[in-house]
Amino acid sequence: MKVLLIGSGGREHALAWKIAASPLLEKLYAAPGNPGIAGHAECVGLDVKDHQAVVYFCRDNEIDFVVVGPEAPLVAGLADDLIAADIPVFGPTADAARLEGSKGFTKDLCARYSIPTAAYARFSDADHAKDYVRNVGAPIVVKADGLAAGKGVTIAASEEEAFAAIDDCFSGLFGVSGAEVVIEEFLEGEEASFFCLCDGKTALPFGTAQDHKRVGEGDTGPNTGGMGAYSPAPVMSDAMIERTMRDIIEPTLKGMEEVGSPFTGVLYAGLMITKDGPSLIEYNVRFGDPECQVLMPRLRDDLLALMKGAADGQLKHMSARWQGDAALTVVMAAKGYPGSPEKGSVIKGLETAEAPGIEIFQAGTALRDGGLVANGGRVLNVTALGPTVTEARDAAYAAVDRIDWPEGFFRRDIGWKAIKREAEKL
Ligand code: AMP
Ligand code: GLY
Repeated sequence: MKVLLIGSGGREHALAWKIAASPLLEKLYAAPGNPGIAGHAECVGLDVKDHQAVVYFCRDNEIDFVVVGPEAPLVAGLADDLIAADIPVFGPTADAARLEGSKGFTKDLCARYSIPTAAYARFSDADHAKDYVRNVGAPIVVKADGLAAGKGVTIAASEEEAFAAIDDCFSGLFGVSGAEVVIEEFLEGEEASFFCLCDGKTALPFGTAQDHKRVGEGDTGPNTGGMGAYSPAPVMSDAMIERTMRDIIEPTLKGMEEVGSPFTGVLYAGLMITKDGPSLIEYNVRFGDPECQVLMPRLRDDLLALMKGAADGQLKHMSARWQGDAALTVVMAAKGYPGSPEKGSVIKGLETAEAPGIEIFQAGTALRDGGLVANGGRVLNVTALGPTVTEARDAAYAAVDRIDWPEGFFRRDIGWKAIKREAEKL
């Protein structure tokens, strides 16, 4: 198969690495890719926003299959335009991508199919939203309806904080994404990420992970895209996975089919495991980043075959097997992230950090005069396997410590919850 992978982050490097190992692969292209992805693929300077240009590229290069990494092209309808041109694609149509693109859409679907999620209300003006907050009280969660690059959610400890978040949304801070606001109940519990490959009808459980969204150790400071992750998530026992499939994933697929938007691709459920069981916080229509970087090293089966199976409606005949080992990834970010990261600093020592069981997935990197430099916020994902999360953590930090990049920073406590659990079991 000739495959085109869309994206340029650590997630896409992990996907490229795994796709490159497929016996089905004839040639891999990536648009735009990054220097790490270039180790597995030919990177092409396509404008991904220009869907017709992507279609022409696929025709000219006889692409058999397109894999879309990030959500923005999916929400913008890239999969629709590829399907219209008869080019098979892994990833949902724009209508199906509303599961990530509109929080209100997802909440309404949950209400219709009795899918457990925080109680909520939708508002298109500040006064009514504030009245609702006054009635329910704090803590309470305020969310911009649309995509806001992970910045549209406020966990308000007080009513005043909630009012300020409501004003932010309606003042246009998040553009059209904030023209509608969802306000919801604050859920207490432990968070977990749960992934399923979907072919419109069948959902195949595809691994669990936990990430660390806050920039600072002890889960403090501003939210980021994720500073590290590990897989599997200890809270996602077999029984919890079964319950999540039955109560959340399967009714969602059924609902999407019934509204005429069958979901294909990867469905990423952000869950809160509460004392009453799993509750849906949000859906994403793509792999998590950095969760993907800990799923791929654990996957024993052929990713490309599974993704093609999802696109072709064949998942009910397929299965996915995972290594018993845990995986953990530490994100190395450029100083200034998640605000304004410094660009251009030189990164050395990747070769000395690499070892069996270690993969360094690149995100915001670039080549300058033949050397690697930082070119974004999250820059490297140093990933290790180990029999336990504790051992994977030790191996990952040993590799991190061999990387020579004084302008980078990272959290020292990735995996702390799972490691604490492992220590308590000893
Ligand atoms: P989101 O952008 O929807 O992933 O939300 C960002 C983070 O806010 C989530 O990962 C949770 O930690 C937190 N969050 C979102 N909704 C709720 C909720 N209803 N209750 C508690 N925490 C929440
Ligand atoms: N790591 C969280 C996300 O990919 O949304």
